[in-house]
This record gives sequence, C-alpha cells and structure tokens, in this order.
Amino acid sequence: MQHYLSVNDIESLPDWIREARAMKETPDKFLSLGKRKTLGLLFFNNSLRTRLSSQKAASNLGMEVMVMNFGNEGWSLEFADGTIMNGDSAEHIREAAPVVSQYCDIIGIRAFAQLKDKEKDAAEMVLNGFAKYAGVPIVNLESPLSHPLQALADAITIAEHSSLSRPKVVLSWAPHPKALPHAVANSFVQMMGLYDAEFVITHPRGYELDPQITAGCQIQYDQDAALKDADFVYVKNWSSYSDYGKVLSQDPSWMLTAAKLGKAKFMHCLPVRRNVVVEDAVLDGPQSLVIEQANNRTFSAQLVLKKLLEAK
Ligand code: CP
Repeated sequence: MQHYLSVNDIESLPDWIREARAMKETPDKFLSLGKRKTLGLLFFNNSLRTRLSSQKAASNLGMEVMVMNFGNEGWSLEFADGTIMNGDSAEHIREAAPVVSQYCDIIGIRAFAQLKDKEKDAAEMVLNGFAKYAGVPIVNLESPLSHPLQALADAITIAEHSSLSRPKVVLSWAPHPKALPHAVANSFVQMMGLYDAEFVITHPRGYELDPQITAGCQIQYDQDAALKDADFVYVKNWSSYSDYGKVLSQDPSWMLTAAKLGKAKFMHCLPVRRNVVVEDAVLDGPQSLVIEQANNRTFSAQLVLKKLLEAK
C-alpha cells in the first residue's frame, strides 16, 4: 500500500479487522516500528477525534507527531499549473508538498468538501495534490469524497458487536441545520460493500448519494420499513448531492428515536447534534456504540500507519 486515500486501499477487510482488534489488545506491541519516524498532520478543517486518535495511534507506534492547522496558519495554496500567482494564493502545492515531506515520513491530510462546486470537490485537489507531489505516504483524514479511517473504525466496531454472520446494517439520513459533506456516508457505503452484511440506505427523496457509490445498494425511502429488524443503525446527515450542497429538508420525523431504534445498536461518527439528529435516550442508552467507534479511530489509524511504515 502506497497511500491510504480511500477504502479501496484496504487489501483484505477481514484480515485488517482481525489485525486491528489484536492491536487493540496490545497497543504497544509495535512501539519500535515508528522510532525516529514523524507523522505530520495537516488540518484544513476542524477536528477532535481525528486529530487526537491519529496522534495516539502514532504514539503507540513510537512515532513523533507534528500537527499544523493549515487552514488558518499555513500559506494559502495554489493547485493549478501555469497560474500567474498574483491573487490570494502565496504558495504552490508543487513546493509545499515536497517541503513537508522532508520533515515527515507520513502525512495525514484533512480537507473537507466546500459544497459549492461538485466538480471542484470531486477533484480532491488538496489530498491528491499532496499524494502527487509529497513523495511520502499520504493518509486521508477526511477529504471531500471520503473518510476511510472513520469507515475502518466503523467496520471494526460492527465486527466487535455482532455475533451474526450477516447482520442487517442500515444507513439512515437524519436532519441537520447545516449543509454537511457526503464523505462519511460515502465511505460507510463503500465499506459495507466489503463487509458481509445486509445493507440498506434510507433517506428522503432528493438525498440520493453519488449513484456511482451506491450502485447495487438497496435504497428505501420509507425509514420505518428500512429500520425493520435492523441490527445496526448508522445515522448521518448529508446535504443533497443532485442539488449539490443544498439543505432540502429538515424534517424532524427523520430524527432517530429509541422507539425507532428498537433492539438495534446505534452508530454515528460524531460530532452529533442531540435531539436534532438523534434523541438523548439513544445516545445515553446501552445500545449506543458512538464512544466505542471513537475509540476504534485510534486502532484504525494505528493499523494504517503500521502498514505504511512496514511498506516503506
Ligand atoms: N468523526 C470525526 O472524524 O470526528 P472529528 O471531525 O472530530 O475528527
């Protein structure tokens, strides 16, 4: 594996889940692997879990960590070739990426979708710019299209909490006052393509995800019907893909309640807005896995870093 940019970089999901779970039992086992190696984390957007779990993961492997809030501390970057840089951008990706790679052995990049221009977001300029010019492995810490470390943590969490050979997993849209990106939902959909599960997506009409990502998935517009006999319910808001980046509905009847959850386990990547996306009783109840999911972010990141260190 050269980079970890999407769930497509996972060589074998069952093996990776087994390895991550073993790593969770003995997190310090590979403490010498990352000695004298440095992980650089460049954040163009906010974070709690990704930032701290990636640092923890690197520390468990004996790595040093450098963190930069690039979005408000770094020079504004230019990505287009041949541009006359007499506007806002002060530095080109052709210099910035190789410079950072002189200081860091692996670089993590978080740069969200801006939800204004579908084609521009789809180009994933920041992530792909670093992957093209850095010369060291790149880890996607959430890009416009995907959040593969989150999806790996989610798969580990489902495996830990399922005794069934083929659980029913439902991804349900929920209301939110802001326009949110598609990255978490996209990667979860792709991950369920690798996981042996009965997988259903439910959302109001107009909230269809990229049809290339959901090709072959069961889509159910009736949330109650989708949730019937679910073992895991993953709730997430995303903005419209077809009417790109727009909030088309805030229908509160899509909020997940304890009554709707039934006997299923509840999942969400966090951060979550209480009593908008999901009611208190679910988050505070015994079926919520959200804290476990956040804990597994450390081991998904640690596994990816270990594989990249071993491949160097
Ligand atoms: N789930 C997740 O990526 O959390 P942060 O945005 O806080 O990193």
